[in-house]
Amino acid sequence: MRISARAQRIEPFYVMEMAKSANAIAREAAGSDRPMIYLNIGEPDFTAPPLVREAAERAIRDGRTQYTQATGLMPLRERISDWYAQRFGLQVPARRIVVTAGASAALQLACLALIDAGDEILMPDPSYPCNRQFVSAAEGRAVLLPATAAERFQLSAEKVADAWGARTRGVMLASPSNPTGTSIHPDELRRIHDVVTERGGITLVDEIYLGLSYEDTYSHSALGLSDDIISINSFSKYFNMTGWRLGWLVVPDALVDVVEQIAQHLFICASTVSQYAALACFEPDSLAEYERRRAEFKARRDWFVPALRELGLDVPVTPDGAFYAWADCSRACDKLFASRSEYNSGMQTAGSWEFAFELMKRAHLAVTPGRDFGHADTARYIRFSTANAMPQLEAAVARLREVLA
Ligand SMILES: Cc1ncc(COP(=O)(O)O)c(C=O)c1O
Repeated sequence: MRISARAQRIEPFYVMEMAKSANAIAREAAGSDRPMIYLNIGEPDFTAPPLVREAAERAIRDGRTQYTQATGLMPLRERISDWYAQRFGLQVPARRIVVTAGASAALQLACLALIDAGDEILMPDPSYPCNRQFVSAAEGRAVLLPATAAERFQLSAEKVADAWGARTRGVMLASPSNPTGTSIHPDELRRIHDVVTERGGITLVDEIYLGLSYEDTYSHSALGLSDDIISINSFSKYFNMTGWRLGWLVVPDALVDVVEQIAQHLFICASTVSQYAALACFEPDSLAEYERRRAEFKARRDWFVPALRELGLDVPVTPDGAFYAWADCSRACDKLFASRSEYNSGMQTAGSWEFAFELMKRAHLAVTPGRDFGHADTARYIRFSTANAMPQLEAAVARLREVLA
């Protein structure tokens, strides 16, 4: 069968390949005293709080399961708008909020609405792997700009200005970022937005982890900067609803109808049951629970990141949000693989990939090697997810200590 050139352009998603291997090893380890610990998965270990689950049950019982408008239930868009006001002090009108099947659908809608064949989108290396594919599916080209620890693994205005070319259409950022958990400083974001606006481009900021922000400096939505910024968000992370497939995007007024029309054709609407359930996310009891969980995520970060550093797995920038630790494993690789001839003959670029497999086999610890997230320096890095209970994190550190002893 002839496969489209578009499909052939899609790169492998190594995280998923790694997860498959982890599952195979986990089956063998299941009966042992060392079942697999999964620090590779980027989703909260919490499920939706009780009021949300009850609201879903009620919607099903009452038969409220028909399609909604492509832009989502108006009461849900209004509650999201209220949340922006209460949490971020921002006036974001409900009409500019489009409810989608997760941030994934929101990102696709934004790309399809704005990218023409051959357009280039600048994004940091490392960044969320799917973004490159969303751009490519819209016939555009993702241009990865290496971002250093000194830049918090984010783009700078200077870099954006230098890289801007005849085909550049805009920038795609995530703050806080996956895989690094680091945010763009608000002043830098303002400067980037100025550079982009002067060139008639678009600034898209994925704020899916913004609810899980731990430092006041970074706890601001990019929407406060300008009405022409596109912000992506989701019920997956802060609201602990990954499998419910619900998210949203905020677009400038001029884009609402365009995005609505594409959404009508591509998705009809996001899951109706999930939308009714999500209304209950904004009840005071649910919001209190989410804040308690945010404090728990912060406590995990505060314990886990120093523990990694003590083991020689340097985390060059302390994550200010999300639930990831982006750790340089080159010293650990030197220690583990020094005796291997292929390592010493220049093969060490495969470092974090090999290291991840070694951890999986020897310690029954699943982590994500940097490979998916870019090309520049990612072979040195491992992404740990701290979306796991403290006893699991403690056990993981104990196992790492043994392997690296
Ligand atoms: C930065 C980023 N954007 C988007 C997504 C997709 O999220 P959703 O579950 O809302 O589709 C993820 C998922 O891990 C992510 O890390």
